Amino acid sequence: MSDADEKKRRAALAAMEYVGHGMVVGVGTGSTVNHFIDALAGRRHDIAGAVSSSEASTRRLRDAGIEVMELNSTGDLPLYVDGADEATPSLQLIKGGGGALTREKIVAAASRKFVCIVDDSKVVDVLGRFPLPVEVIPMARSLVARQLVRLGGQPVWREGVVTDNGNVILDVHNLEILDPPALESEINQLAGVVTVGLFARRPADVLIVAGADGLQTLSR
Ligand code: 5RP
Repeated sequence: MSDADEKKRRAALAAMEYVGHGMVVGVGTGSTVNHFIDALAGRRHDIAGAVSSSEASTRRLRDAGIEVMELNSTGDLPLYVDGADEATPSLQLIKGGGGALTREKIVAAASRKFVCIVDDSKVVDVLGRFPLPVEVIPMARSLVARQLVRLGGQPVWREGVVTDNGNVILDVHNLEILDPPALESEINQLAGVVTVGLFARRPADVLIVAGADGLQTLSR
């Protein structure tokens, strides 16, 4: 296992402390969350099930013997655990590198506690070094791209990728995001945008950062 993967695994194991008896757990997507799912498998008889943020996580959860439930039938969730592509010390995030941003934002919105798990390479002071993913209705791809250029970004179509919702992704380069909640609202307003991968209006509640020297936990 690489150093980076070992850090992801340690952050994921730390998130297990937030999993309570009988919970329905919201589960994100990505290589960090895969470690969390693997750990959750050992508690599968102690939890009620999981709500998944992607087809990929659904498969991994089911393979681990964990029941995957529909958000429409669970109501609000006590806990959501997910990774991020970038995180600030104020717990605002860029997500969507794995293309699952829309369902991730839905599950985060439905959850009372959002625990974000990252290795220390993801922590930044200002969001935007990682290209900002935007999920877009296919017919609006060029329209939205032109609007994103007007906002100062350089959108690049993630060619060949179709999201679980049947849409496309634009990755917006060269944004220095000084007011994340304002930019999140502005991009969300563009006709054709399904979701922007900024998680600033609903940031994480807890950020677990794994580094070479151990774990750091930040809370709001
Ligand atoms: C998927 C995501 C992931 O949380 C993000 O891409 C981080 O992934 P990883 O844990 O593999 O580094 O937002 O849409």
